[in-house]
Amino acid sequence: MTEEQEAITDISDLSGVGPITAGKLKAAGFDSVEAIAVAPVRELVEKASLESSVAHKIVKAARETIHTDFVTAKQLWEKRKDLKRLNLGSSNLDTLLGGGLETQAITEFVGEFGTGKSQICMTASIRTQLPEDKGGLNGKVLFIDTEGTFATQRVYQIAQAAGHDPEKILEGIIYSRVYNSDHQILSVDHAFKVCQEENIKLMIVDSVMSHFRGEYIGRESLAERQQRLNSHLHKLAESHKH
Ligand SMILES: Nc1ncnc2c1ncn2[C@@H]1O[C@H](COP(=O)(O)OP(=O)(O)O)[C@@H](O)[C@H]1O
Ligand SMILES: [Mg+2]
Repeated sequence: MTEEQEAITDISDLSGVGPITAGKLKAAGFDSVEAIAVAPVRELVEKASLESSVAHKIVKAARETIHTDFVTAKQLWEKRKDLKRLNLGSSNLDTLLGGGLETQAITEFVGEFGTGKSQICMTASIRTQLPEDKGGLNGKVLFIDTEGTFATQRVYQIAQAAGHDPEKILEGIIYSRVYNSDHQILSVDHAFKVCQEENIKLMIVDSVMSHFRGEYIGRESLAERQQRLNSHLHKLAESHKH
């Protein structure tokens, strides 16, 4: 990589990106060179309303600035072992998670209806707000609810039972109810703005699959579902960088 390429950190420095295009890209959530480099061209066309040829050129320029980092497994280990974890307040669950919910990662809870996934999400929304010496992350929570099962009274109850100020806890949860998979994808695309404005330390999607499962029925739609889901999960995984 040349020094000149390395200097590109702002998307408006990319060739083909003028102020108007930069504005469109940022509004669509493509606010970093990296985000553009890994985006499918089609997404830039659809979400940022760019001409296909323009989008191609921009993605190409962005990809040229990205280099692949190779690290040793030891470096990887050093990095991961210092990751902060969110203590969920259940010793069994925390042990299962290897000491708590990992930060800078996606954790998926899988289980049948009524097994407690939503309860875990609500508990996590509370505990994230605790100071670090109490096992929390000292930050706010972004909660995307796809099924309408988030219950403020339940959060209030759990917070109160644990001796926290319930209203303060509710204040620290930024909530959005989404009604279909497009809406869900859009909410995550827009989440980066909230993450920049607020001190968000945990993002919850409860549940990530329900709309996708309900909307893409049958084998023939599986490939499209996986493709959209992959891109959605990638965005979620990236959101901690904001
Ligand atoms: N206020 C409450 N007190 C005690 N148990 C509750 C309360 N609210 C829900 N539950 C129970 O918690 C269990 C887990 O529910 P939930 O977290 O919604 O499951 P999932 O999201 O995995 O479908 C259910 O059996 C439900 O009856
Ligand atoms: Mg649930």
